[in-house]
Amino acid sequence: MSAISGAAAAPAPASVEPDTVHENVVVLDYGGQYSQLIARRVRELGVFSELLPHHVALEEVERRRPRGLILSGGPASVYAEGAPKLDRRLLELGIPVLGICYGMQLVALELGGRVEGAEVGEFGRSELTVSEPGRLLVGLPREQTCWMSHRDTVYAPPPGFTALAASTQSPVAAFESVERGVYGIQFHPEVVHTPYGNHVLERFLTDVCGCERTWSAASIIDEQVERIRARVGHAKVICGLSGGVDSSVAAMLVHRAIGDQLTCVFVDHGLMRKNEGEQVIAAFRDRFRVPLVAVDASDRFLGRLAGVTDPETKRKIIGGEFIRVFEEEAAKIEVREGGVRFLAQGTLYSDVIESGGGTGAATIKSHHNVGGLPDDLEFELIEPLRALFKDEVRAVGAELGLPERLVWRQPFPGPGLAIRIVGGEATRARLDTLRDADAILQEEIRSAGLYRELWQSFCVLPDIRTVGVQGDERTYGNVVVIRAVTSDDAMTADWARLPYDLLERIASRMINEIREVNRVVLDITSKPPGTIEWE
Ligand code: XMP
Repeated sequence: MSAISGAAAAPAPASVEPDTVHENVVVLDYGGQYSQLIARRVRELGVFSELLPHHVALEEVERRRPRGLILSGGPASVYAEGAPKLDRRLLELGIPVLGICYGMQLVALELGGRVEGAEVGEFGRSELTVSEPGRLLVGLPREQTCWMSHRDTVYAPPPGFTALAASTQSPVAAFESVERGVYGIQFHPEVVHTPYGNHVLERFLTDVCGCERTWSAASIIDEQVERIRARVGHAKVICGLSGGVDSSVAAMLVHRAIGDQLTCVFVDHGLMRKNEGEQVIAAFRDRFRVPLVAVDASDRFLGRLAGVTDPETKRKIIGGEFIRVFEEEAAKIEVREGGVRFLAQGTLYSDVIESGGGTGAATIKSHHNVGGLPDDLEFELIEPLRALFKDEVRAVGAELGLPERLVWRQPFPGPGLAIRIVGGEATRARLDTLRDADAILQEEIRSAGLYRELWQSFCVLPDIRTVGVQGDERTYGNVVVIRAVTSDDAMTADWARLPYDLLERIASRMINEIREVNRVVLDITSKPPGTIEWE
């Protein structure tokens, strides 16, 4: 196998089963901050798209039989030592290629254009002037705003190419050679600050690549149902349900495919939010009639957590105990039903990318795997959401008829409320206080219509007491911290500017309705420097 850019051949990226996809466009990731976003935009335009590392073997690109190839942006200078290079054979696959930012500069350099480091970089909004629409920029106004982020600049297109546009700092901000099927744009069409960005991508996908735009997240339902049926045959499947959107959608999809051959296992570790367990049981067992084993293991978990205050130890205990309970339940199902061969999991495309399968950037956040299952369980995995981004999973969930509450549930950590009792032991009494406070917060945020806007909103209960006065009495009670953040992916987050009157309502309800609480504070730390959770 030969590797693009001459680096050692990367292991084949974890496949998202591309052989089921008839029409797709591959995005090669050169490390740009918007690379995932390019793939998402392409999908939003109705064409399936996978993000592969730039150093992937050429055969991996060919195997997918893409209708087009997009080279992403990247942080390097094309002249920097060790900067990712372009394998010329990518330009000779007989499919159209669109280079974006760094991708455009690579193309220019490879084909004999002039690329130089500019004195002044071009970062942020810029004015683009289209001099010649060519094929790519047809239908664009002559003047428009676009988003730039580069220092190296293309000064002359390669021979045989037409320069299409210029911007404040870029003499050649777009070029094309229709004959060669190679296109380049210096600006970022994938970000919202380029108002005509989608238009340019659409031109590339439809007019240049000839894509039909038939893909949608919901369209994978039928495809996955057939695939799961063919693979599972008459065997049995188990699925761990957490109540979160990923495992819920995975379970529903598998159930749609094989009905009662699926058994779901819901482990209530006693660290859930208020009524969460009941909601999962009501949705799956009562409403959708999915065979469900619900285990109340709260005594077991709380017993193991007694006396433990260190957050990492809490995580380890909960993770380990979860696996034990799950294995015991799986063994019981095997004894009862026999033939349990498969384990269904709600792995998402971002997990595939994060674990190095997509970008090769191997940045697994180990503590986030707590509450999951280890790799060495003796089951074959079924991961029907492996190709999907989170918002696409929500679309599939809605299409499958999952209740709105489940589809739009904010992320919730595997170790649950235990890691939100900070500096102290997760006792039943403290968990109850935290659960009550959290329930008030959720209720008020939902009725203010803000739930979906927030990435996460929750309460933290530090192990301290403060003085207060209620009625004529001096109190010595718990402090509840309100944490609400906006974010796209949890890697960075901003503290949410909740309205003052909402905050006041939440605080006064908590203090009035929960005897143990006499003070409420608001966390106004963004990430970085803070993290979203407190522990
Ligand atoms: P931090 O606190 O690192 O969190 O900014 C980022 C995202 O990860 C979630 N998180 C966890 N999820 N097990 C999980 O399953 C954990 O131990 C864990 N710790 C943090 C957090 O809620 C946020 O969405």
